[in-house]
Amino acid sequence: MAGLDSVLACLDLNLDRAVGRLSDLLRIPSISTDPAYAEDCRRAAEYLAGDLSAIGFDAAVRDTPGHPMVVAHHEGPAPKDGVKAPHVLFYGHYDVQPVDPVSEWHTGPFEPVVQEMPDGTKRIVARGSADDKGQLMTFIEACRAFKAETGGLPCRVTIFLEGEEESGSPSLNPFLDANREELSADVALVCDTNMWNRDTPAISTGLRGMVGEEVVIKAASRDLHSGYYGGAAQNPIHVLANILADMHDADGRVTIPGFYDGVEELPDVVRKSWDSLDFSEADFLGEVGLSVPSGEKGRSVLEQTWSRPTAEVNGIAGGYNGKGFKTVIAAEASAKVSFRLVFSQDPAKIRAAFHAFVEARLPADCTAEFHAHGGSPAIQLPFDSPLLEKARGALSDEWPKPAVMIGMGGSIPVVGEFKSRLGMESLLIGFGLGDDAIHSPNEKYEMSSFHKGQRSWARVLAALGEG
Ligand code: BES
Ligand code: MN
Repeated sequence: MAGLDSVLACLDLNLDRAVGRLSDLLRIPSISTDPAYAEDCRRAAEYLAGDLSAIGFDAAVRDTPGHPMVVAHHEGPAPKDGVKAPHVLFYGHYDVQPVDPVSEWHTGPFEPVVQEMPDGTKRIVARGSADDKGQLMTFIEACRAFKAETGGLPCRVTIFLEGEEESGSPSLNPFLDANREELSADVALVCDTNMWNRDTPAISTGLRGMVGEEVVIKAASRDLHSGYYGGAAQNPIHVLANILADMHDADGRVTIPGFYDGVEELPDVVRKSWDSLDFSEADFLGEVGLSVPSGEKGRSVLEQTWSRPTAEVNGIAGGYNGKGFKTVIAAEASAKVSFRLVFSQDPAKIRAAFHAFVEARLPADCTAEFHAHGGSPAIQLPFDSPLLEKARGALSDEWPKPAVMIGMGGSIPVVGEFKSRLGMESLLIGFGLGDDAIHSPNEKYEMSSFHKGQRSWARVLAALGEG
């Protein structure tokens, strides 16, 4: 495309300024799950709407019952020979995860720093640098450079930024339904996933779904002295621990009745494509201090994380956890449990099956309370669409190695909603790396991800616009 070279050169020339803009966004602690940061979430939305207006988007902060959305529109080029360039909807999220344990951070989570590593590579360290502020800015920087160099964009672009992705997206579905026309495009571009490795870009064609559940087991009417009552009183921590331990058998399979209903073996084409990826289980686990895959026996790590469902305890609470020691039998104990789902498990059925599993194991005098925390089905995207092929070619032009198609163990609920509510397919292209430590202390985004991510979007937009 005419002009692409100058757009790429513009991105190279302005990298420092782009890092400055990203740093301004990273300084805003937009933690969506904690109500104490609601004003900061709004500030992040306002910052982004302001930046998009500055480069010529018709942008607005849109209120919801929760944190606001940002929606911005930019027209596409005039039709060429009667053919219109596609309309793309870019999705990202400006909210971030909490920063705990804060003592593990080497620098302030909301004081972004650029660090140079011994091998000469650079990284931007801050909460949200990779998930998802750095990623969403790669797209905005590509648009900025297009505007500066060519005066327009190669496609009609709508940008849709959410502020509740990390906290179960409670406002998302009503917002999509209420703004269906406005948010419908030919394809959604979602930048919230990883590359295959430093040199190899990736398009993710599968995502696991998720069901989040909190369970509270209650027994006595108050906390008890564990000597006076111990031996006679039911202990809800024991009850909870037994139930949670019961969820897996010795082969790592989930024992909840009906859990595997609808779960299928991998189609041969997918298995072959995954087998051809250069992947070391030892390195994947070794990087985080582990050595033996702990999940379902007889499955590869890629299967365990991409195509098999899981049940994981994410948090557990009860009794005395302060300094020192207290001899107490707690009146209640609770756990947060998440299930990663694969095609075609039904989130509602999994939730109900878990409730039944817990209730069947409750001894006398115990009750269970449940609190739902989001649910979304797994996603399988087409492997062979023309848009995907164009994007794949564009990515392969930018990086040392050609783009590959991968699965993804994490969940991005909006992708399923785009399909079911707006009839829109998504292209999942992201530049994160496995060691970015998203959701963990010292989260970072590689400078190469940020820089070449921008260049990649410029190429993808140019390729999609070529028709
Ligand atoms: N960006 C992540 C998804 C992701 C995880 C991409 C790992 C690449 C590698 C996303 O923001 C996320 O964390 N999603 C949550 C969704 C949940 C709260 C419904 C997840 O997967 O836990
Ligand atoms: Mn994310």
